[in-house]
Amino acid sequence: MLHRSSALAMFLLSSLNLLGNGGRREFRAGVVFGFGNGFGNGNGGIVRTVITTTIATRTKTTKGRATALVGTSIFGSTAEAEASSSPSSPSSPSATDNAPASSSTTTSSSTSTSSSSSSSSYDYSKLKMEDVVSLCKRRGIVFPSSEIYNGYAGFFDYGPLGTELKRNVKDAFWTEFVRAREDVVGIDSSIIHNPSTWKSSGHLDGFSDPMVDCRETKLRYRADQLYTSPAILLDNDRGGNDKDDGDGGGGGGILLGYVTVMEGNDVDMIKSAETQAKKLLKESSGRDDVKDARSGRDARFKPFEFVDLTQVTEDIMRRVPSPGSGKPTLTMPRDFNLMFSTNVGAMQDATSLAYLRPETAQGIFINYKNVLGSSRLKLPFGIAQIGKAFRNEITPRNFIFRSREFEQMEIEYFIPPGDEEVWGPYHRDWIRDSRSFLEGVGLRSELLGYDVHSGDGLAHYARACTDITFKFPFGTQELMGIAARGDFDLRSHTEGSGKVLDYFDEDTKEKFTPHVIEPSLGVDRLVLALICSAYAEDEINGEKRNYLSFHPRIAPVKVAVLPLVKNKEPLVDAARALFGKLQRRWNVMYDQTGAIGRRYRRADEIGVPYCITVDFDTIEKDGAVTVRDRDTTEQVRIPLDEVVPYLSKMIDGY
Ligand code: GAP
Repeated sequence: MLHRSSALAMFLLSSLNLLGNGGRREFRAGVVFGFGNGFGNGNGGIVRTVITTTIATRTKTTKGRATALVGTSIFGSTAEAEASSSPSSPSSPSATDNAPASSSTTTSSSTSTSSSSSSSSYDYSKLKMEDVVSLCKRRGIVFPSSEIYNGYAGFFDYGPLGTELKRNVKDAFWTEFVRAREDVVGIDSSIIHNPSTWKSSGHLDGFSDPMVDCRETKLRYRADQLYTSPAILLDNDRGGNDKDDGDGGGGGGILLGYVTVMEGNDVDMIKSAETQAKKLLKESSGRDDVKDARSGRDARFKPFEFVDLTQVTEDIMRRVPSPGSGKPTLTMPRDFNLMFSTNVGAMQDATSLAYLRPETAQGIFINYKNVLGSSRLKLPFGIAQIGKAFRNEITPRNFIFRSREFEQMEIEYFIPPGDEEVWGPYHRDWIRDSRSFLEGVGLRSELLGYDVHSGDGLAHYARACTDITFKFPFGTQELMGIAARGDFDLRSHTEGSGKVLDYFDEDTKEKFTPHVIEPSLGVDRLVLALICSAYAEDEINGEKRNYLSFHPRIAPVKVAVLPLVKNKEPLVDAARALFGKLQRRWNVMYDQTGAIGRRYRRADEIGVPYCITVDFDTIEKDGAVTVRDRDTTEQVRIPLDEVVPYLSKMIDGY
């Protein structure tokens, strides 16, 4: 969880220069690893080795822990496996997928099945963000915002399918964590709060990211997302060893210069670094030491050692190329507050300054007393909110993963004060329930992991924080965070507002400030994870098929009703009647155009879990329809009046 809301702490610590060059949105005091090649940790930043491969190392300030990003089980073992190559998909033989299994091809009218041969073969590691973005555009899931005006960076619009998908995700969250529980209630606060809220929460002073500017192109970058490494040519005559020749590159070889790459997956980072290193080599080809080192043989570079730009000294920064200009035109990092400001009322001066909320959480804290006073809730209890949040991200990227306007689903779960034996079990329960929710809406378990923040790596007020990570095509990243925040927020607002935000325990007759566990999940980030996770490809009877294997619960369209022909009135009437009935309950589609096989493919591509074909037998013989399952392509024959109960079970689980 990127605790930008640990802003107050960060402000204090950055004033003490404990945070390196740039104020961090998340402060975690961490282990300082030594680092060669002239980088060091000169500015007091926190260094963490995130990835070590044989060809590159990457060192990053964020979070200050040396924990594996994927696969570290919070419950002790390291049980979570890396993503396997393909989703499981049962396959079974028989009929072609181009024809519905009408009663004439099945053995009994109510439950008989038939299916075509489907074998899933999708290799998840091949999934690229371009594929996802293009599918989203093509099928009306997500569009770039204001596209007719060439778009607007960091903003997105949801199309017809995306809107349904998002709605289903929010409904699933609300059902699971609010309606199905007696201890959680919901609120819907305003987006703009009294600006004092943000003073008390610490956002005004320290909700910032470290930013570097390119003096030439005027482009801005997040310093902790931009990495540099020396490009060092290994000396073939010295056997390409790592002897330090004291040239500032360190560790042997000839320093050609520095490369700069954006944070990404290892392969992309190394590829980009190699391209730049080769260019540097070409530029240095006249140098005698370079000629000597190569001795007519192929160039070999020392493995890259990446550090993010919050870690470099001024001396190094003067040699680091800007991604925009290719020249060393970057400034040193400085803080950039991420809150969007606006003016409220007719006056446009300091007194009318207000902010768009950067998280939904504070709306909950400032309503704590109202909710408590108007309900019969007793500790422990939670308040949930789903709504828009706005962050002026310096480098919004990876599509809807990090945008400037997004939605959050957050719960503040208030618990009695105390140390770990009090909050620990609540925290563990919320981690378990959160993971179970994520798997319940269809995320493949093998793509999920944990990132456990502990000990010195935590914000000073936080007792613990665990992120649930997802293996996105661009790398394993935080999907949601579950933090034990102590009483920091209620206390800060008590101090800021002068209103005591406490709790009176009827049983013990004690008054105290409750502590809080905060599960926080981005709607858009979850939507992206769901699309990636559902991306599937297989072969049906030798023919390639692309489909989205959305869980029926969150699939944007639940059912496609397909009349076998479009020119036989009684058949069309039956299909339309069924469609009308299903429409009252779910988002369904009616498709009568093209061969049935092509209609199946169209439905598969947008992840419709069930296709219902109304055929001649429906109106002439058995009054039943064929229901085809998207993933298995299995078909069952179901009497018309059993269709709704059947689908209820399959889609809603009851
Ligand atoms: N109240 C705690 C909080 O806001 P956070 O880690 O900054 O913590 C929580 O945000 C979740 O919100 C993240 O795990 C992520 O799912 C989502 N999120 C944060 N920033 C986002 C952005 N710029 N775009 C999309 N989702 C974002």
